[in-house]
Amino acid sequence: MNDATRDLREMVRAIPDYPKTGIIFRDVTTLFGNAEGLARTVDAIADHVAGHGIDLIAGIDARGFILGGALAVRMRKGFVPIRKRGKLPADVYREEYSLEYGTDEVEIHKDAVPAGGATVLLVDDLIATGGTAIAAARLIQRAGGTVPMAAFAIDLPELGGARKLAGIGIDSYAVMS
Ligand code: PRP
Ligand code: ADE
Repeated sequence: MNDATRDLREMVRAIPDYPKTGIIFRDVTTLFGNAEGLARTVDAIADHVAGHGIDLIAGIDARGFILGGALAVRMRKGFVPIRKRGKLPADVYREEYSLEYGTDEVEIHKDAVPAGGATVLLVDDLIATGGTAIAAARLIQRAGGTVPMAAFAIDLPELGGARKLAGIGIDSYAVMS
C-alpha cells in the first residue's frame, strides 16, 4: 500500500455491528465528503480504465451512483442506474442476490444499453461477497451490454467477491482493500 492509498483508507469510517452484529460497515460518506478523497478515488478509477474502450458507466444503487455519476462526468460517458427493486419506471430486467447481511433484488431498464450493444464499466463503492456486482453484471448482459471490467473504491478480499467476478470473466479493480 502506498502513501496515497493509505491517506484514502484513513478517510473511510468503520462502523462496528452495522447493520447487523458482527459486520464492520465501511462507511464511504466520510471519503466522499472529502473533496480530495472523492476526486482522487474517481481519478484512480478513470486512470485504470483509460484505453479500455468503455462506452457507458453503470452504477449500483445507492452509493455506486455517487462514484459512477462522478466518473461518468469525468470520462464524458453516459450513466445507467442499476436500482433496487421497484424504483425504475419503464420495463425492467430483475435479478435476486444474497449479501453479507441478507438478500435483495436489483433492476435495469430493458432499453438501458443502446441497440447494437455497448462496453459497460460497472461501478460501486464496495465489493464484499460479489453478489450485488454479479447480479448487476447479469442485468447489463441481459440488456445487451458487455461488462469486461468492474471498479470499486473498496474491496474486502476476504469475502471473495473479486475472485468470483474473475471467474465469470470480469476484471475487477479497487482503489483500496
Ligand atoms: C453495499 C455496497 C454494495 C454491496 C456489496 O450495498 O454498496 O452495493 O453492499 O456487497 P456484496 O459484494 O456482498 O454484494 P447495500 O446492499 O448495503 O445497499 P445500499 O447501497 O442501498 O446501502
Ligand atoms: N456491503 C457488504 N458488506 C459491506 C460492508 N462491510 N461495509 C459496507 N458495505 C458493505
